[in-house]
Amino acid sequence: MADIGFTSSTRAIPEVSTVPRHVAIIMDGNGRWARKRFMPRIAGHTRGVESVRTTIRACMDRGVEYLTLFAFSSENWRRPADEVSFLMQLFIKSLKKEVGRLHQNGIRLRIVGDLERFDAPLIAAIREAEALTAANDRFTLTIAANYGGRWDILNALNRLVARHPERQGAFSEEELASELSMSFAPEPDLFIRTGGEQRISNFLLWQLAYAELYFTDTLWPDFDAAELDKAIAWYGARERRFGRTSEQVAGASPAQATVAGTEPHA
Ligand code: IPE
Ligand code: IPE
Ligand code: MG
Repeated sequence: MADIGFTSSTRAIPEVSTVPRHVAIIMDGNGRWARKRFMPRIAGHTRGVESVRTTIRACMDRGVEYLTLFAFSSENWRRPADEVSFLMQLFIKSLKKEVGRLHQNGIRLRIVGDLERFDAPLIAAIREAEALTAANDRFTLTIAANYGGRWDILNALNRLVARHPERQGAFSEEELASELSMSFAPEPDLFIRTGGEQRISNFLLWQLAYAELYFTDTLWPDFDAAELDKAIAWYGARERRFGRTSEQVAGASPAQATVAGTEPHA
């Protein structure tokens, strides 16, 4: 999929508006939400699906175009087997239950991550849901499942090397970006992590280079439209400089936005 022309934030400055075009979320705190209520951790995961529904709707209503949700990391296999198996079941169940409604609402669904580790029925359900919604262009929902930022970068590089054995590894930033699993989307503008931790946990390492990072103590099952509004209001007050000075940002016109000397080369 080496065809997409989204500019990389380190090569050209994207257009900035007060509403983020792409929101990426680490949905954390399900286990703690459940334990606070003397419930098993898995009850928190089930309740977290409600927050996913609410957040999709709220993002669409506010003019966000891309929402990317971290559902299962490449490190989450380290959890107890019964929790991993519950999460897989919940994923396949939610996928099957929600895909019709997503499609009716004009949502394109993408799943990114190393899918090879999933069972055949889950892979088939994923491919089917992606195919059904492929032509929708109102909103793009991406679920990161068995995703790791390092896997993504390494995978992109390995694909480039395999495709161009003659090039001896002299690849550009654009070429690498075009092989990443989210090459179909612009880079996230706003990153949100719920649950109080302030870390990236191997999420979109490359793509978050210039995202605004928002951390909240709110646990994922408690995240709702009002919480999203707080994050978007905070985002709207950021000055996104992309390496420039404040004075330059104040005086910039879109025509000046490309970084001199870093034009993509063919
Ligand atoms: C996030 O919630 C969901 C997944 C990682 C699948 P956690 O399960 O990590 O919840 P805490 O962090 O233990 O509270
Ligand atoms: C990150 O949450 C992954 C997902 C939300 C899917 P974790 O709860 O697994 O992250 P760490 O291990 O505490 O950093
Ligand atoms: Mg956690």
